[in-house]
Amino acid sequence: MPIIAANFKTNHTRASTAKYISLVNNYLKTNSTSEVYIFPTATSLDEYETVLNLSIGVQNAYPTKKGSFTGEIGTEQLDEFFIKTILIGHSERRHILGETQEAIAQKFQYFKELGYKIIYCIGEPLEVKEQGLQSTLEYLWEQLVGIDTTYDKLILAYEPVWAIGTGVTATVEDISNIHNAIKKEINKPLLYGGSVNFGNIEKICAIPNVDGALIGTASWVAEDFIKIIETTKEL
Ligand code: 13P
Repeated sequence: MPIIAANFKTNHTRASTAKYISLVNNYLKTNSTSEVYIFPTATSLDEYETVLNLSIGVQNAYPTKKGSFTGEIGTEQLDEFFIKTILIGHSERRHILGETQEAIAQKFQYFKELGYKIIYCIGEPLEVKEQGLQSTLEYLWEQLVGIDTTYDKLILAYEPVWAIGTGVTATVEDISNIHNAIKKEINKPLLYGGSVNFGNIEKICAIPNVDGALIGTASWVAEDFIKIIETTKEL
């Protein structure tokens, strides 16, 4: 049974998020036992009704309970809504918001100690991919420095930067090579992300060592996301 996750990034309002989660939850009540995650914006977090196999997570948080960290949220704010799932290491936070590996590793350690489920993202930019598989793998290992890859609540996501939001998905061969290499070293669920959609999800989830998908753009319409879950539920 695959793991299917929706990353809203900076999309949806509280009102549309509530509708979306309710639609997905209603679908899951009767139709699927897939493990499903939804990551809404921080302003759309709430105490939503969810079935057991649906978790609402936060896209980012600061490694603190509370304090003076302007613009950030800590676990006191997450506890209000019983959020126990977090995305860490997403390429947009690494490359646009400038998070360093050291800061990411500290964040990982903090949320690990609190027992959060962590979806931890790694992925190489185009110029690294163009240098070949060896360079790509070296780059990915650097993104795992300071990360406890034996953590029992860890899910990894391989998201090549050049495939995110571009409509260019990695080829089956690319995904296979990377996923096989990662799985050889780390025995954790491993998602693929990067321009996954209804048209390619089945092919991607059928690749050995792909345990599911982390989806941005194609997940933002509830009906489309439900179709994706429906397509993969027998895999
Ligand atoms: P897209 O599905 O829009 O390419 O985004 C992938 C992603 O970044 C999910 O975290």
